[in-house]
Amino acid sequence: MGDLGEGLSHYQKQGFCSFHTPGHKGRQEFFNGLDFWGIDLTELPGLDMLHSPSGIIAEAQKRSAEIFGAEETFFLINGGTVGNQAMFLALENRAAQRVMVERSSHRSVMSALVLSGLKPDYVMPTIHPDFNLPLGLEVDKQRIPWQTVSACHVTYPSYYGTAFELNQLLAERTRMGFDTPILVDQAHGSHYLGPLFPPSALKLGADLVLHSSHKTLSALTQSAMLHVQGSRVSRLRLRQSLELLQSSSPSYLLLASLERAGEYALDFGRWECLHEEVEALHRKVGKSFRILSQKDVGTYGIHTVDWSKILINTRIGIGVPAPRCVKYLREGFGIEPELWDEENILFMLGIGNTSEDIRLLTRGLESLANFAHTIGSAKAKKQVENGRFRISPLPQQVLSPRDAFFAHKRQIPLKESLGHIVGETISPYPPGIPVIVMGEQMTCEVLGTLLTAGEGRWQGWDGFESQTIWIVEV
Ligand SMILES: Cc1ncc(COP(=O)(O)O)c(C=O)c1O
Repeated sequence: MGDLGEGLSHYQKQGFCSFHTPGHKGRQEFFNGLDFWGIDLTELPGLDMLHSPSGIIAEAQKRSAEIFGAEETFFLINGGTVGNQAMFLALENRAAQRVMVERSSHRSVMSALVLSGLKPDYVMPTIHPDFNLPLGLEVDKQRIPWQTVSACHVTYPSYYGTAFELNQLLAERTRMGFDTPILVDQAHGSHYLGPLFPPSALKLGADLVLHSSHKTLSALTQSAMLHVQGSRVSRLRLRQSLELLQSSSPSYLLLASLERAGEYALDFGRWECLHEEVEALHRKVGKSFRILSQKDVGTYGIHTVDWSKILINTRIGIGVPAPRCVKYLREGFGIEPELWDEENILFMLGIGNTSEDIRLLTRGLESLANFAHTIGSAKAKKQVENGRFRISPLPQQVLSPRDAFFAHKRQIPLKESLGHIVGETISPYPPGIPVIVMGEQMTCEVLGTLLTAGEGRWQGWDGFESQTIWIVEV
């Protein structure tokens, strides 16, 4: 076996307990009866076609639409990414060429701007001071340019499981007398069914809703769904957009896993067991750590908190940088989180987690809290505070992301980039909010952030190392 295969089996043998995607957590039970090698087929007689389904794929999509409460559901085999992109390509009322998007949107939304040529009107998320993360959105404080946008695109819930009051946005559309489509990236909330979770965006009345079904449900990585209701977005254009973007050789493994994921999504008992254990976790370690919880509802634009995302801040409480805590949990307990930054760790549950997984996490956190007494310090806490990522005021947008993408570009030293139109989108991860989007003019604040950000703290931009940046030739 080559390096890739060896790397994967080496990782698998370490037997980490997964608090990250995919939601099936490597548990065979979700795939019982599926002969993976035998059903890795192509579009053969009787097997239907993803791009014009009328047989078994059409039936499976129809059942999923019923389960999730949509009028129509499209299976996606290029991830949730392609769902965000297709949403923008499908828009018809493009007179103004503009679309409302959250500045903290996933990068697939930024790529959808490049593909569609639409220009963004940003709404700014609210940064939570404890976590230094964009956890909420205060709809009443935003100026939504209803007259000039072809659609409003929002993320519900955030990566961290918090959601803003989507209802308020939908009500505002009615109150203002507009018919603007509301497109929802519910990538992290495919499991919003049943009494334990916030209402799904479909239930609230959104027009298009994206699920990254592999993140929290049992679908295989890269499988997702795009749900539709109403007639504000043309279904024909949506189908055509998906045909344009998706592979002509859809994987039946992914499609079959989507069908199964819908069926398992109705097994609420699985989540009930996890919910009880998560409540016990909060009781046991909630005093040692700052954990995002239901108590945060109603603050900083947060309307709901999904208990199945466990977000822990390690600066407040124990005063230890998060990477040190992650090392402790990985090496001592085999716990693998979804992500971390300098001060937060996110543990993401999926339908495949078990009560035992959460008890392990609880034990790990109890032990970490004790261990932290020996290494936590006010100095470490201060260091984390000083290194915090800060969101700069919005730079001026000179070119659309699409025009900037296709423009002639050259690379220059980062320190000389003030005033230039930037030719790349820089979204250090985490939190993944663009510091600057291609087509915007470099400002002092953004340049200051980028010049001081280095030290390998953030991923997602080569320029931290090379100290160069692509700019648009004018
Ligand atoms: C909010 C959000 N939307 C969309 C996506 C894209 O989904 P996928 O990874 O399935 O392509 C992600 C991926 O992390 C995401 O976090």
